[in-house]
Amino acid sequence: MISAVNQISLLKPDDWHLHLRDGKILKGVLSYSTDVFSRAIIMPNLDPPITTLSRAKGYKERIVQSIPKGVSFTPLMTAYLTDEMSSDVLEIGFKEGIFYGAKLYPVNVTTNSSYGVTDLNKIDNIFETMERIGMPLLIHGEVSDANVDVFDREAVFIERHLDPLLRRFPSLKVVLEHITTIDAIDFVENSKATLAATITPHHLHINRNAMFLGGLRSDFYCLPTAKRETHRIALRKAATSGKPCFFLGTDSAPHTRQFKESSCGCAGIFNAPFALESYLKVFEEEKALDRFEAFASKNGPNFYGLPINDEYITLVKKDIEVPQILDVGLEGDPSDFVKPFHSGEILEWSVVRD
Ligand code: NCD
Ligand code: ZN
Repeated sequence: MISAVNQISLLKPDDWHLHLRDGKILKGVLSYSTDVFSRAIIMPNLDPPITTLSRAKGYKERIVQSIPKGVSFTPLMTAYLTDEMSSDVLEIGFKEGIFYGAKLYPVNVTTNSSYGVTDLNKIDNIFETMERIGMPLLIHGEVSDANVDVFDREAVFIERHLDPLLRRFPSLKVVLEHITTIDAIDFVENSKATLAATITPHHLHINRNAMFLGGLRSDFYCLPTAKRETHRIALRKAATSGKPCFFLGTDSAPHTRQFKESSCGCAGIFNAPFALESYLKVFEEEKALDRFEAFASKNGPNFYGLPINDEYITLVKKDIEVPQILDVGLEGDPSDFVKPFHSGEILEWSVVRD
């Protein structure tokens, strides 16, 4: 990575956790990711979810058809685990390069997770297969137990489910997605190299107060929710540490205004449009610009056993104003638009686009 004060060039990054949705909105949001990322792990929480080889192939095809002309971008598909998932399907999918991993949503934990797994012990045959073939398990690490406080759900998941799972399957490759707590950081740092974690831009910028600033603000509501400031500070340290167990995963999750502004607003923050600028701001503030390339472009492929990209991307010190709202091609009124993360703010870095 070459870095002067006003310019940074780094190996092209990848996004290891991305929601692209489907249909018209897929076309409307995709270019924000293909613009700066070379590959992305595509989340399978559609309705119906991506549970079969043919659904994965069809979804991949629709993504590929929507990539802007002349742009090179590889969607890496994932399987959505259910109680009924067959280990043969996973094994075939992984060996044929259809699935790069399988996503575990504990049932009812987040958007479109009603088909998720009801009891981890019920799918030990799946974990056994994944461990044997080296297929990564991507986990939404929260319990959906209504008796557990929302802000404790990640820590409780680690203690109740993740720790026992890794004891049962010590060689299973696991990514704990979008971590938000000191508990998760400690657990990942003290585990073997077969466990890693993605960190989103929003969890590096906001703490839980953002959801309640002067009123109820669903724009800052995502799952897992942002936590106390102490956790945010620890996450910034972890992300900028350069440690191979932490890498970039935006969890960009677009929801239109009508679903965000409802009395039961959806969880998810659309950060793809300014994701790199957002991360870079954190690395600059933490005086860790020299470690940005490891986090954004190297640690992820190394964990997944994929080649590091050989193209470069450049960002320059130039103010950029984040729009209040973006039209994502749904051809409706503003209730069909999506608000990007950092809307209305000025970010100091911008990507050089040729
Ligand atoms: C995601 C979504 O909307 O699909 N929402 C979110 O708050 N992150 C699902 C998820 O990753 O939990
Ligand atoms: Zn997600």
